[in-house]
Amino acid sequence: MEGIKIHLKVNGQDISREVDPRLLLSDFIRENLLLTGTHIGCEHGVCGACTIQVNGDPVRSCLMLAVQADGCEVKTVESLIQENGELSHLQQAFSDNHALQCGFCTPGFLMTLSSFLEENSNPSEEEIRKCISGNLCRCTGYSNIIKAVKQAAQTVSN
Ligand code: FES
Ligand code: FES
Repeated sequence: MEGIKIHLKVNGQDISREVDPRLLLSDFIRENLLLTGTHIGCEHGVCGACTIQVNGDPVRSCLMLAVQADGCEVKTVESLIQENGELSHLQQAFSDNHALQCGFCTPGFLMTLSSFLEENSNPSEEEIRKCISGNLCRCTGYSNIIKAVKQAAQTVSN
């Protein structure tokens, strides 16, 4: 099958590639760009592990084709690390509050929540619960994730 040329920005870098029109964005990110922080759990849009940001909004990369990202600005979990190599406030808060165990779901949570906190820097517990309701975690029981989000919001507002 003939490839289709796409141009996009990924984590601030301009990327041009020729891709199979059927290639999922999640597979493009992991296999073509080798950004393996984006995890693939269900490939059906259920678990949220593959969440990235497209033009600033959280998106399940397993439900999007690579060709649909043509012209878009994409951010993966690898973009969260600060320029000086330190963890972002949200990543640090996850670590401080034991909000990850196996870590499989964590990139999806981080990409969902970093976009959310940009829009709502002082969320209520109910708003946090609603925000993460589309991300599944089998390990943490969610309460430490909620604590981490509260800490990250507080750190940014101080
Ligand atoms: S792998 Fe995309 S939602 Fe589960
Ligand atoms: S930390 Fe293991 S699935 Fe969430």
